[in-house]
Amino acid sequence: MSNLFVLALLIGISKVCHAASVPTTNNVQLFAERRLSSFLLEATARNSPRNIVCFEEYLPKLNQLTDEYEQAYGSCLNATANSKQRVESEVAKDRSNVEALAEDVCQLYSKCSTVVASADFFECYFNASEQAAVNSYTIQTTSKSKSQYIQLRYQTIQYDETVCTDTCKATYVEETTKTYAELDKCLAGLSA
Ligand SMILES: *[C@@H]1O[C@H](CO)[C@@H](O)[C@H](O)[C@H]1NC(C)=O
Ligand SMILES: *[C@@H]1O[C@H](CO)[C@@H](O)[C@H](O)[C@H]1NC(C)=O
Repeated sequence: MSNLFVLALLIGISKVCHAASVPTTNNVQLFAERRLSSFLLEATARNSPRNIVCFEEYLPKLNQLTDEYEQAYGSCLNATANSKQRVESEVAKDRSNVEALAEDVCQLYSKCSTVVASADFFECYFNASEQAAVNSYTIQTTSKSKSQYIQLRYQTIQYDETVCTDTCKATYVEETTKTYAELDKCLAGLSA
């Protein structure tokens, strides 16, 4: 437990903490932590100046892989956010149409509530309810089709996000495994 251990901790801990900031990647993070701690155990068992050289070379590479992973993962989430924003833009006009139709109905009824003479009062509500029925039907059909459309779009967006994040997780695990294998070789004295 000396130079090597401290060095590995200094470089390694920052990496693991860094990885912890990526959301919903617990399995990948655990993978990195387990690999790192098993290497620390092994390396401290055979402490040598060469080990320090190996860690100096490979821990920055591992940090780099984590940075790239975080970047790629963030891009996936960005793509999701952008796609959802596009859906919002697409339905913005329908949204304001539905709101206007509903507001219309409210205003028709509230105008009637101020009518004093009962004959006019009921005629007013009769007229208002006819218009309200027309508006309500339009609100119903628009809302139904738009809500189905949004659900379909969200399914696609979610699918794309899963494919995107699965791909960057797989790349990270693959690249990290390769780098650990190289570090292992280096520690065993098979390469510098
Ligand atoms: C995500 O998007 C924001 C702005 O939309 C941008 O500032 C940020 O750099 C993007 N991040 C990635 C990882 O692409
Ligand atoms: C109800 O509608 C009829 C026909 O559109 C109209 O002649 C009448 O003035 C309306 N009544 C009220 C109280 O608005």
